[in-house]
Amino acid sequence: MIESDLWPALRDYWHPAAFAEDVGDKPLAVRLLDEPIAICRFGDRVAAFHDLCIHRGTPLSLGWVEGDSIVCAYHGWAYGVNGKCVRIPSIPPEHPIPKKACLTTYLAQEKYGIVWVCLADEPRALIPDFSPIEDPGFRLVVHDKRPWKCSAARTIENFLDFSHFPWVHEGILGDRANPRTPDVTTERDDETIRFTIGNEPDGLHSASYQRYYWVTRPFACHIGRVEADGRAERLYFACTPHSARECTRFTLICRNYEPGPSDGARIEDVEDLVAEQDRVIVENQRPEELPLDL
Ligand code: FES
Ligand code: FE
Repeated sequence: MIESDLWPALRDYWHPAAFAEDVGDKPLAVRLLDEPIAICRFGDRVAAFHDLCIHRGTPLSLGWVEGDSIVCAYHGWAYGVNGKCVRIPSIPPEHPIPKKACLTTYLAQEKYGIVWVCLADEPRALIPDFSPIEDPGFRLVVHDKRPWKCSAARTIENFLDFSHFPWVHEGILGDRANPRTPDVTTERDDETIRFTIGNEPDGLHSASYQRYYWVTRPFACHIGRVEADGRAERLYFACTPHSARECTRFTLICRNYEPGPSDGARIEDVEDLVAEQDRVIVENQRPEELPLDL
């Protein structure tokens, strides 16, 4: 059994599709679980459609939004938010529009500055939690999106793999003189697995600290770091499965403090470096799809 065998089940979950500021009245093409999607905005509401005009099969993402409808670039058919065709310019206005002239619509929702899409009628779970971003005491310091040529599960595996830190990120997140991974005790809470891990000082943190992890099905992780003086950092990582070998990693990091000179390197400065160190490894792992029976 391989990862893509699970894709029918993954349709039931919310997946991050785009940053909200990238979704406007020019439909955005996104591939999700091998399905082409067009995402656009009607006023303050986001919408997602199968990216295919049912007239002659032109991608809707080549079209545009006009008022309350999305217009196909080929013959100008216009569809409402509910997917029903509301205008066929080539026929007289009194001519009825066929009932089957209807797009496939998907659930779309904006949360944490991200547009999420679910390909099922009824989502099986909530959008993975990252409520600290809504806390006015926290400030967003990293807001980043990276396409990787690997499966979404491989990126999550990498994100939760602590024993690579001394080898791939030595001097930043790990120390080859101290390569042992601490034991963790996991707890399962519905769709989320939680655990806490103790960390020694590293290139980003000058004192030892604890991090909690909430790993939420299918491809999200919320990490919190709290220090004794109440300073806190929250990291959110959510991954879009485009195809079996392509994904996008969305990263948000927020803090309730301004780092001082004794805080070591700034995470926003090293984030690029760390991600690039990981990418080279993960894009080259084989098999490309994570085997489910390790
Ligand atoms: Fe879309 Fe003709 S293909 S209007
Ligand atoms: Fe890494």
